[in-house]
Amino acid sequence: MVSTTTKSRRSRGVIERYREFLPVSAATPVISLGEGNTPLIFSPRLSERVGRGCEVFVKNEGVNPTGSFKDRGMTVAVSKAMERGTKALICASTGNTSASAAAYAARAGILCVVILPLGKIATEKLVQAFAYGAKIIPIDGNFDDALRIVRELDETGDFTVVNSINPDRVAGQKTAAFEIIDKMGDAPDFHLLPVGNAGNVTAYWAGYREYRAHERSAKLPAMIGFQAAAAAPIFYNRIIEKPETIASAIRIGNPASWKHARTAISESRGAIDVVNDDEILAAQSWLAQHEGIFVEPASAASIAGFFKCCASGDAACSFREIPEGSRIVCTVTGHGLKDPDVVIQRMKKLKPVATTVMDVRRAIEL
Ligand code: F0G
Repeated sequence: MVSTTTKSRRSRGVIERYREFLPVSAATPVISLGEGNTPLIFSPRLSERVGRGCEVFVKNEGVNPTGSFKDRGMTVAVSKAMERGTKALICASTGNTSASAAAYAARAGILCVVILPLGKIATEKLVQAFAYGAKIIPIDGNFDDALRIVRELDETGDFTVVNSINPDRVAGQKTAAFEIIDKMGDAPDFHLLPVGNAGNVTAYWAGYREYRAHERSAKLPAMIGFQAAAAAPIFYNRIIEKPETIASAIRIGNPASWKHARTAISESRGAIDVVNDDEILAAQSWLAQHEGIFVEPASAASIAGFFKCCASGDAACSFREIPEGSRIVCTVTGHGLKDPDVVIQRMKKLKPVATTVMDVRRAIEL
């Protein structure tokens, strides 16, 4: 048997690394794919943008085993489900939860049922769920319809729901806040992230509070969440019947963790704001081309939001008067290859050139 000390931190996964903070015991079978321990990347260019001696870091969750932050919560939810002897997992999803659930179910050797709004999730995410062998049930509706059905099926007792309404998911996801504090030595002053079903903002806030309570950090960040402008129920404080955005992962009109998100935002003296699709896509390109971090559109909402905070007096949280030397973390939630449609469209203008050095040289335009 390989001792834990000889395993790399990466392959240990979040349960092994943060066991004391998670709802697991010696009896819990650990279903892990080596999630977590993702890079916290200092960005000189974003730091320059905000100025005033501030430091900006990007927490890149796209490098988790299935390419999104969901894996942190899924390892805990699936491990606990196995401990309870569940027969099958079930989830509704805009794509990433289903990819993650399918992978961890495969690892655990149990059935995973995913209810998906057909035509409204990125093909690549559907490919993941399919490849991992999930039972895929497409519905002719949106994510909110899928979650409603899952909640009803939950009452039959035949399934374990692995959406973020499952507290084990939130428990696992809070480890991202632990990692940030472990790396930075304290919590940041501001934490920016995209908001969809609102599980992640809830989880980060729980993590920051828990570490603070254990005196692993001295302060708490202001949580700043960003929704897509036409899918912003929390911002507008009303259910959006037909949410629309290019960022399909956060195309949600009635988030499950709405109340928890509100609490996180108000307790942390943070804010909820909106970014439009043009801003999201511009931020996605900017991050790829200036920092080498390629994220899916939904993930770029935190970067678009950061730019809004820097530039606009209208932002729900303006950085114009930000205290000198503040530290800001932006979470990017999913890998760019998960939802590349917009980039593929832009690539269509590529045309082959003749097979001579001269033609190639001319095409380089240096
Ligand atoms: N970013 C990405 C890439 C996501 O997939 C999601 C949510 C979010 C942000 C928002 O996080 O829901 O915790 O507020 N995706 C869910 C899914 C809804 O089904 O994969 P949240």
